[in-house]
Amino acid sequence: MIEAKIIKLLKENKNSYISGEELSRKLNVSRTAIWKHITHLRACGYEISASPHTGYSLDRVPDKLLPDEISYGLETKVLGKKIYAYNSADSTNIIAYNLAEQSEAEGALIVAEKQTKGKGRMGRHWVSPPGSGIYMSLILKPKISPAEAGKITLMSSVAVAKTIRKTTKIKAEIKWPNDVYIADAKVCGILTEMSAEMDMINFIIMGIGININTPKSSLPDMATSLFIETKQKVNRVTFLQAMLWEIETYYNKLVKGSFSDIINDWRDLSLTLGKRIKVEWRGKLIQGQAMDIDDSGALIVRDDFGFSHHILSGDVSVIS
Ligand code: BTN
Repeated sequence: MIEAKIIKLLKENKNSYISGEELSRKLNVSRTAIWKHITHLRACGYEISASPHTGYSLDRVPDKLLPDEISYGLETKVLGKKIYAYNSADSTNIIAYNLAEQSEAEGALIVAEKQTKGKGRMGRHWVSPPGSGIYMSLILKPKISPAEAGKITLMSSVAVAKTIRKTTKIKAEIKWPNDVYIADAKVCGILTEMSAEMDMINFIIMGIGININTPKSSLPDMATSLFIETKQKVNRVTFLQAMLWEIETYYNKLVKGSFSDIINDWRDLSLTLGKRIKVEWRGKLIQGQAMDIDDSGALIVRDDFGFSHHILSGDVSVIS
């Protein structure tokens, strides 16, 4: 808590020094305590210069998803108000699920610098190299029926694609249901998991993995990162803050019942609609035209025999 306050004061005094005496007066602790906290902050990666006559100045913050950094300037009301941050985690979804089972409140954010057992859709593994991506999970408790849970997944992909477009100006698109692509390569995957009764959602875990500054050598084939696309490092903390704000804005729309607005945004961002695709559904391979998505988020495909199918889950490939 004190360290967060020290960082806040140093940031407010950007490009100048603040004396140890002023810090100790403002935070109501001794100068020796201030010095100990500064030493600890440096060990965490903050670059802080100290001069006996002028005091302390913050030169650089570490390139890490630290809770205090994420909180500073975060404009959301609920999402990310409580943060669990790990240097290494098996899977942020697993941690979030366990926390939610122990009644952790809605909005809690779990982030990790790397994952050793990152989970992908359909039992796949999500490659999560250290210090370069965002691997995060949010605990959500929407008052909607379990049958509507797919809306949450769809909404999250819209929020991620929008964030990428706003922060980098790159044309990110959504491959149904919720993969975010740049051209032909995947930049983000989303795994939503749910605990529910017949008629009520207990909680949803929204797990998002985004390749931010990840080099090509650390990624699987057909994957990309924002760094590969822009040739520039993207500040992960700023990106995460923008994304949380975007998710919260769409989430509020969704729980208020304005899903049609979200579907319209999804259509605008879709790389699937209008394309010839193939998808495996209920044990059969369906080939045809991706026509639209319905109100529940199912993909409507007209097959080569003229029959329409509402596909609820699966992996779509676009046939070029
Ligand atoms: C996919 O297969 O496309 C979904 C990938 C989801 C990966 C994210 S990374 C953060 C969160 N924790 C996990 O274990 N998985 C999700």
